[in-house]
Amino acid sequence: MSVTAPIQTGPGEANVDGYHSFRLGEFKFSRDEYFVYVEWPTGKHVMSADAFLRALQRDVAWQFFYGIVNFDGVVGTVNHYGTVDLFAGRYNDVYRKAELDHLENFSTALIKSTFEEMLDDWTNDGFDPFASPTETGSAFGIKRGNNRAAITRHRVTAARMVSMPGDEPLRTNDNGHPINRHFLDVPQDEPVKEAEPGFEAEVNAFNFFAYLSRSQVTWNPSVVSVCGDSLYCPTTEEYILPIIHGNDRVEWFIQLSDELIWQVEDRDTGAALAKVTMRPGDVAAMPADIRHQGYAPKRAMLLVWENADPDLPALISSGQLPSVPIVI
Ligand SMILES: [Fe+2]
Repeated sequence: MSVTAPIQTGPGEANVDGYHSFRLGEFKFSRDEYFVYVEWPTGKHVMSADAFLRALQRDVAWQFFYGIVNFDGVVGTVNHYGTVDLFAGRYNDVYRKAELDHLENFSTALIKSTFEEMLDDWTNDGFDPFASPTETGSAFGIKRGNNRAAITRHRVTAARMVSMPGDEPLRTNDNGHPINRHFLDVPQDEPVKEAEPGFEAEVNAFNFFAYLSRSQVTWNPSVVSVCGDSLYCPTTEEYILPIIHGNDRVEWFIQLSDELIWQVEDRDTGAALAKVTMRPGDVAAMPADIRHQGYAPKRAMLLVWENADPDLPALISSGQLPSVPIVI
């Protein structure tokens, strides 16, 4: 079912546990000590509060990212780059066949501001949705304070490349980026740079592994270099990717350290397709018609290579481009 978005009615009164409820169109979101509830005219869904907040944090920070951000197998968002679909059961074969799915389209500004309010209201003091489970406190219990510093932290988006003049800085202890406990053995020496006179602002290099070893967050691809539409988006991973990402273009993964296990499903139905285990040096191209969720037993370094060409989703969905990188 698809309807035009009604006006947001905003947060309601706080409940007995201290949390406000939020409405977006005909969707209602509420939480209590343990759970988040999502209601729409034909259904009601429940998620663990910590899993929901981890997913919500990514959707907000990534500004709805490429394609589909599934919070789980039922609820999620689709980015149309200017507007966003909020759906329940739309990419779930059982909900679809039972005609219990629901989808509404909102301006990006409206859904983003509502999600930001919800994230702020429901994130308690001491819980960091970006952190690994062993590096943060509990999401559960009655409302206690907030963690505004954590949920609004700066996301790296380089204009050219990290370390370039005027661009995103290198990470150091002094700017709040100590080496992560799992990467204490990563060498921290920086390369020698010898630019020809006049090219000092054009030629640069940095220790990429040292940079990643100081990531304070998990499952948060951030842009460290840009060449046209080619974006290098490395990230460190630990525990479970809090969302199931539905691609709208091919994504390349290069495993830089440790191990990731990817569960790959059909993007539209959720049917299981493949399990991909990636070890250092492994390269995978994730097709444009799948969705995937990663598992990292130890903190791992992953390079996600994205093609930001805005024409890609339409070219692929219309069949003008294949959903795989190479057709043999
Ligand atoms: Fe993806």
